[in-house]
Parts: sequence; C-alpha cells; structure tokens
Amino acid sequence: MSQEIVDKINKLKAERNAVILVHNYQRPEVQDIGDYVGDSLGLSRQAAATDADVIVFCGVHFMAETAASLCPGKTVLIPDEHAGCPMANMVTPRELQAFKDQYPGAIVVTYVNSTAATKALSDICVTSANAVEVVGKIPADQTVLFVPDRNLGSYVASQLKRDNIVLWQGYCPTHERIMPEHIVAARLAHPGAPVVIHPECRPDVVAMADHVGSTTGILNFCRDSSAREFIIATESGMLYRLEKENPGKAFHPASPILDCPNMKLATLEKVLWCLEDMAPVVTVPEEIAEKARRPIDRMLEMTEN
Ligand code: 13P
Ligand code: SF4
Repeated sequence: MSQEIVDKINKLKAERNAVILVHNYQRPEVQDIGDYVGDSLGLSRQAAATDADVIVFCGVHFMAETAASLCPGKTVLIPDEHAGCPMANMVTPRELQAFKDQYPGAIVVTYVNSTAATKALSDICVTSANAVEVVGKIPADQTVLFVPDRNLGSYVASQLKRDNIVLWQGYCPTHERIMPEHIVAARLAHPGAPVVIHPECRPDVVAMADHVGSTTGILNFCRDSSAREFIIATESGMLYRLEKENPGKAFHPASPILDCPNMKLATLEKVLWCLEDMAPVVTVPEEIAEKARRPIDRMLEMTEN
C-alpha cells in the first residue's frame, strides 16, 4: 500500500516539477521520500537554491514560510496546515516591537523558529547550527535581543561569554521536557555513551552534554565518533536517521517522551494529497516577505557551511 502511495507521489512530483524537503524530525516513511532531509539551515539553503516550481515542505509552518519568503515565484505546499511550532507563536510582532522599544539601538537576533512577521522586524536570523558563529560576529559591546528561544539564547551567551544578550522567554515544549534527572538516569543505564544534546534543551541539561548541536550537527557527531552507543537528547524523529545511517551503533533516547506532535502531522497520504490538490499553499504577503528575506539572507551570507 505505501509503495503504491510512494509511486503516485513520485509520478506527480515529476509532473509538477516539485521538490520534497524534509526536516530530520519527520516520520521515517516521510524522510524516505525526501529529495533532501536536513536541519533548518540546510533546508533554508535548499529552498533558496532549488529550481523546482513547487516545494513540498515536510516540516512545520515557519519552515514553509521561510521557503515562501525566499522563493516568491514558487508554490510552497505543506502536507498539514495545522503543523505549527508553539515556540514560534510565543512572540507576536506587537510584543517584539515593544521589546525593541525598551532597548533602542539593540540588534535583534531571531531564531528561524519564528513567524515571517517576527523575522520582518529582525536584524539577523540564526538557526541552532550557526547561532554561536553568527552572534560571535556581532561586536561584543553591542546589546543583542535574542528571540524567541531563551534556551538557545542562553547557550549562545554562555559559549561567547557575553552578558549583554537579553533573552525573550520562549521555549520548545518538546525539548523543555528533558530534565537533568533524565540525563543522569540515561548515563547510569548506558555507561560511557556520549550524551548528545540539542541547544533547545534547558541550560541545566545542555551543561551535561558531551556534544551540543543542531539536528544535522548531532548526525555528524555520531557519524564521526568512534563510540558505539549514544544518548540522544532531542526529538524522537532523529533516531530513525541515526540508526539508518549508522548500522552497528546504538542510539538511546534521553527520555521516552520526545515527540513533537506538530512534526508528526505530515504523513505519506497527506504528501500525496497536497500534490494532487496543490493545497494547502503557504504564502507570505510580499511586503512581509521582502522584510523577512533580509535577516535570512544576512544569516546565509554570514555562515560558511
Ligand atoms: P534544527 O534541525 O535546525 O536543529 O531545528 C530543530 C527544531 O526544533 C526545528 O523545529
Ligand atoms: Fe517547534 Fe519544538 Fe516542534 Fe521544533 S520540536 S517544531 S521547536 S515545538
């Protein structure tokens, strides 16, 4: 049955000149049909570079909005329009404007996990793969407002040893659930296994890491490490790709409750339906897209890989 759906998807994909971009947290069967599977930075680069007419974005809404902002002439489809990101919704443009008004002259650094309207009010975007690198290029005496993820912002501040990064109090509900006691228990259960942690986790959890990285950073670390077992503190979808690409290595989730419900809304059937119906389409009004592109482009220019 699912091979039948995959065949139909591939046929329609060719007819529509579509590309399927998939985030590392998606369901295994959705990852398997991706033309590209990656982290937010890699997905932004792919969207910016594609010559396809249609982008099927298997991820959450802000990712599809980023693709729509970067590619004004293309049709961006999302398999399930309810796939939002709670963190992105934790700051509204009005709240961000009030925050900016409190700190005149500050630079607004916005995590890509944000709406296009929030990005439009920002100076530079970052992803979890490049936040330390990008903020490190801002003069150290410059006040930075970091929006919306307090955990990623706190990680950046600690890495750069800066005390002038003001944090908006947003967070990812999935990563926030991982507690220090989960890491302690996982280390006891798997002695010697490196603990690999996403920077959306709480600072007291990130402090326990052997390696901190974006989802692709986590994949690279585990591929290159000589260890045979790893403790993984991020969303559960990562385990599929880690296991698929590293036969013979074992990956233990840091906690049993690591699903992002929004990331799991896309299914093979919904990918097929969105290509059949050419809907739901994600659009960003051009006056917002034009302003949102600037901080995204600045990020892409400031990041080497
Ligand atoms: P990255 O894949 O960029 O690390 O992003 C993690 C995430 O939470 C996306 O929503
Ligand atoms: Fe948003 Fe967290 Fe889900 Fe990523 S994992 S989409 S940050 S809620």
